[in-house]
Amino acid sequence: MAALKKTIAVLPGDGIGPEVTRAAVQLLEDCAAAFGHRFEFREFAFGGAAIERFGVPMPEETLAGCRSADAILLGAVGGPKWDSLPLGKRPESGLLGLRKALDLYINLRPIRVRPALMDISPLRPERLKNCDFEIVRELAGDIYFGAHEIHGEKSAARAMDIAEYSAMEIERVARYAFARAAAHKRPLTSVDKANVLATSSLWRQRVTALAAEYPGVALEHLYVDNAAMQILLRPAQFGVILTSNLFGDILSDEAAALAGSIGLIPSMSRGRDGEPALYEPIHGSAPSLAGKDVASPLGAILSASMLLRESFGLTAESQAIESAVDRALARGLRTADITAPGATPVPASALTAQIRAELRARETAL
Ligand code: IPM
Ligand code: MG
Repeated sequence: MAALKKTIAVLPGDGIGPEVTRAAVQLLEDCAAAFGHRFEFREFAFGGAAIERFGVPMPEETLAGCRSADAILLGAVGGPKWDSLPLGKRPESGLLGLRKALDLYINLRPIRVRPALMDISPLRPERLKNCDFEIVRELAGDIYFGAHEIHGEKSAARAMDIAEYSAMEIERVARYAFARAAAHKRPLTSVDKANVLATSSLWRQRVTALAAEYPGVALEHLYVDNAAMQILLRPAQFGVILTSNLFGDILSDEAAALAGSIGLIPSMSRGRDGEPALYEPIHGSAPSLAGKDVASPLGAILSASMLLRESFGLTAESQAIESAVDRALARGLRTADITAPGATPVPASALTAQIRAELRARETAL
């Protein structure tokens, strides 16, 4: 692959965000050096950190920096310091604002049990066999973006959240999921609550209508309660799971637990072709772990790998990171979240250092 010159906007955010993002940037720098690319990193304030400096979670400068970058790498946002702020002013509203502003309506979350980590999954190994699927979560609509209101106080209070989907919003994300299932020759499971919700009825109707355009894809519909159960009972049945914003948020944390830890799962959020996509671990800011060198860097490092593959088309570079991660894990290095009972965890920085060493070892082996 010819040498590439790319700009990556880095939004470290809050809690463990800065430390895991730093590890991911190191791996990206290593990859650039090894494969002869030039990546320019531009850091911007975001989330609680931006509230402290600029009074808002998503400053104009951050949004402009994201818009002009080739890809965006994000850590995590939120923390107890900002928990008492009203909903629209919290760090999380910056994340939702960024997703909306960049029209990142597709969220892809791969759920893969890494070979070295089979033993730490809460599921028995025989149930985990062939567990390797992707969740396509709609990210720019649903109850997340409708009106949120609280009226009255104490025992007299009432609250409401409006869930809304248009046919267009459903179809554009569904097309992505169908195409992904077709390209990887995998079944597609659409998850909804069409026995109760109007948004879900429309969801099921539009997804069913689109199926005619993708005759090679085996489509199945599941209600979300059943889907939550099936993910634990028979995870190997899934190829691509397509679902709405709220259901996708919940199911992806559940599915992450199968892989052993939420600290391991990367994600991509993207909009139309040609617009910058955003990569972030799906874990939160874990404020109680921040600064202690214990939080797993893997979700962020694997997000960097996904960035190279999905945004830059750098398959070999992405593969080099993935196998460096697997080799470091195969040596038995474990952060606290993936340590077997009784075993001793290594500091997060030691795991990152080993992954970097494995990447370098691969180069000299070439
Ligand atoms: C996620 C997170 C976010 C979400 C929060 C931080 C707003 O849980 O990316 O899964 O709910 O989408
Ligand atoms: Mg979540």
